[in-house]
Amino acid sequence: MNPLYVSDNSDFTLYHGDCREIVPMLTEQFDMIFADPPYFLSNGGISYQSGQIVSVNKGEWDKSQGREADNEFNRAWLTACRRVLKDNGTIWISGTYHNIFSVANCLTELGYRILNVVTWAKTNPPPNISCRFFTYSSEFVIWARKWDKRPHYYNYDLMRQLNAGTQMTDVWRLPAIAPWEKSQGKHPTQKPLRLLHRIVLASTREGDLVLDPFTGSSTTGIAANLLGRRFVGIDKEAQFLDMSRRRRIEIEDPAMARSMLLKLYDNPDEATVLVNHARPGLREKMIEQGICYLRAGDAKGSLLVRPGFERMQYLLLHTGGEHQQMFRLQAKGRFQIWTRETLEQYGFAPEHAPYYVVLRFDPHAPIAIKNPLPMREGTSTYVPKIKPLSEFVI
Ligand SMILES: C[S@@+](CC[C@H](N)C(=O)[O-])C[C@H]1O[C@@H](n2cnc3c(N)ncnc32)[C@H](O)[C@@H]1O
Repeated sequence: MNPLYVSDNSDFTLYHGDCREIVPMLTEQFDMIFADPPYFLSNGGISYQSGQIVSVNKGEWDKSQGREADNEFNRAWLTACRRVLKDNGTIWISGTYHNIFSVANCLTELGYRILNVVTWAKTNPPPNISCRFFTYSSEFVIWARKWDKRPHYYNYDLMRQLNAGTQMTDVWRLPAIAPWEKSQGKHPTQKPLRLLHRIVLASTREGDLVLDPFTGSSTTGIAANLLGRRFVGIDKEAQFLDMSRRRRIEIEDPAMARSMLLKLYDNPDEATVLVNHARPGLREKMIEQGICYLRAGDAKGSLLVRPGFERMQYLLLHTGGEHQQMFRLQAKGRFQIWTRETLEQYGFAPEHAPYYVVLRFDPHAPIAIKNPLPMREGTSTYVPKIKPLSEFVI
């Protein structure tokens, strides 16, 4: 069986055809599968999008063939996927009430074990035009492993870290797809990269192999490759595979890949870091006391009112970009305003202003940094900043 497309470095492969026929012919074993199958909701209904009334019909592939046929379809592709899933591998399947109960039943029948049903709570859902029931604002993603008793991989520590140091729950508040994700054209049901980014991080390691049997525009493959995982995607529509290929080529430019990652790092619920320069001597004193202070704003405005402050959970202290150390703040997004005299009582000698923003942190348990703050020419390194934690730990 010949792939339709393989990237130059072989980490992104596409097959054209029906996944129920292609998956049984694959020779690889996969660490993780993400499937965004037909939801069977193309029933002639209407919805509201960007101020306009639109049909909910997505294409012939999304039409229900009746309850029994839809169940049979789910059973067939889930059976094929189970054979190519590694024993410690996991599968994620997205859906709404239209398909998700059928998928859950099939998973259980086939011997998978359901681990979680994640609710993706959309932070910007379209309004309900009938005004007769609640606005649809969520989708579900079932996470299951191959066997009942064999352990699976879960990147617990990273998920907890990104969730401001507490266990990540099964409700994920993430925005719907952003316009910059459609640079290579529109797929009618394209998933946001943020959703796949989290799924890939939670359930795979670098170098792992990921399969998407309903790949569409290959959001899964783009997230996988951006994070150093390998990918195989299948779709029965050639036009979507062409979009997949273009999206893959787009991220061959390292600057584009980096800028996408930076956009993905900023999420509504994820922890942020105060990045603060302190001159030698002062940095050591701050660490000794577990106290970080900075001027309480100036005529240009204050750090306090910038988005992300309320999610601030970590502090990165550095001296001109060097000697970077990260610590956990004692309270999320909380600060005090101190006078210069109060700081003097703690042995500091502030010179620039009468009032200071003070953050308390735990100096005894520094946090490991995977990606240090890049050194930049000029003064910007010295200006305090609020950055997503992901920039430093993923
Ligand atoms: C919900 S969309 C996936 C969208 C994708 N997650 C993305 O972000 O672009 C489902 C895709 O499955 C494809 N499809 C439907 N039935 C299929 C089948 N039996 N085998 C392979 N692909 C199929 C459709 O063409 C469609 O592109």
